[in-house]
Amino acid sequence: MSEAGCAPEDGARAGAVGVIAIDGPTASGKGTVAERVAAALGWNYLDSGSLYRLAALRTLRSGVDPHDADAVVAVAGSIAPTFSGGRIVLEGEDVSDAIRAEGVGALASQIAVIPALRAALAGLQRAQRRAPGLVADGRDMGTVIFPDADLKVFLTASADSRARRRHKQLIEKGFSATVPDLLRDLRERDARDMRRESAPLRPAEGALVLDSTYLTIDQTVAAVLEAHRRNPGAGARRAGTKPGTTGRA
Ligand code: DC
Repeated sequence: MSEAGCAPEDGARAGAVGVIAIDGPTASGKGTVAERVAAALGWNYLDSGSLYRLAALRTLRSGVDPHDADAVVAVAGSIAPTFSGGRIVLEGEDVSDAIRAEGVGALASQIAVIPALRAALAGLQRAQRRAPGLVADGRDMGTVIFPDADLKVFLTASADSRARRRHKQLIEKGFSATVPDLLRDLRERDARDMRRESAPLRPAEGALVLDSTYLTIDQTVAAVLEAHRRNPGAGARRAGTKPGTTGRA
């Protein structure tokens, strides 16, 4: 069993379909970068964090105690969202904006420590691996969900710059927020995501570590595309091996 409670072979089985795994801490820009890389390649895109946010929204609305792992898995382990045109529909309701609220993100990080919930959501994530390819972002895409990914990227940035970016995004979406509050929250979330026992946030072996603090989105996207161009399909051919290239984890 892997850390998520599912056999890694499940991810390796569909090895013919390429995967670029982009992991990193909250507000590192991985979602935007992953989406743009997917668009540039004409590949599918998976925002795995949205599944944990959906599970959190379901938990919040059901009123169960988020510390009660069995109850959380019972209400949130069998979600069946539909993704269409950039919108996310859960039980007939468009919840794309609702899941972006800070409270939902914080609860997502809290319930993401539950191994049985991670195992329940793993299948949904692996099912997104469809031709011509998949760009997946999250915390454990390269370490657990797609261990044979063609390219693994660990995208990070300083906590200050991430808090400022998150602030800008929230204000643009009409949510109120302050940079100091966001900084405190994201430090707490980083600590929880990195210290949990089940699928902790860390660079996958062989991951290209990119610090985007002083990079624009375009530069970051270009760096990922360049790494993919230099090494297309390497992960599928050498699943489980460590590339050992300079600048990699
Ligand atoms: O990427 P995000 O901020 O939308 O994710 C919200 C939370 O979900 C994050 O703090 C931890 C959890 N998560 C996870 O544990 N594993 C993933 N692959 C993606 C997200």
